[in-house]
Amino acid sequence: MINKKVEKAINVQINAELYSSYLYLSMASDMEGKSLQGFAHWMKSQAQEELFHAMKMYDYVAERGGRVTLKAIEGPQIAWKTPLAMAEHVYKHEQLVTSLINAIMDLAIKEKDHATVNFLQWFVKEQVEEESSADDIVQKLKLIGGKGDGLFMIDKELATRIPLFTFPLSGAQA
Ligand code: FEO
Repeated sequence: MINKKVEKAINVQINAELYSSYLYLSMASDMEGKSLQGFAHWMKSQAQEELFHAMKMYDYVAERGGRVTLKAIEGPQIAWKTPLAMAEHVYKHEQLVTSLINAIMDLAIKEKDHATVNFLQWFVKEQVEEESSADDIVQKLKLIGGKGDGLFMIDKELATRIPLFTFPLSGAQA
């Protein structure tokens, strides 16, 4: 049986993961509107990954005999001034998510919930990658001044990225 405090914290995080998906889908829509299909593709892939994260947590709570209780998802920002502003927002958001995951990890350690500590290790590792890939795009955009031929090339590069996860989404996939 899952520790109740930990169950509550993971439920809050499921909402945060779903919000992340919503935010990234909103970014994808903004980029589509600006004819930046590569950036839109990147953000759609990110949105899928966030859904996967939420499902992974959902399955874990259920497996441990807990209960997932869903709350309203906050509406995300709908437009960004530039692709660089959007990428910087992704990077900042992933840093926030890292701090949220770390807080649940701290709680699981405090509560001596070893199974959850083990479960969260995957997310700790994932956040290192999430921050790194967002920062990589921020740095590239800064390097090219955020526009012109360089922007076109980055958009082309992002269009070729293969999504890590595809539908149907299930936490059992990894
Ligand atoms: Fe679910 Fe991008 O962290």
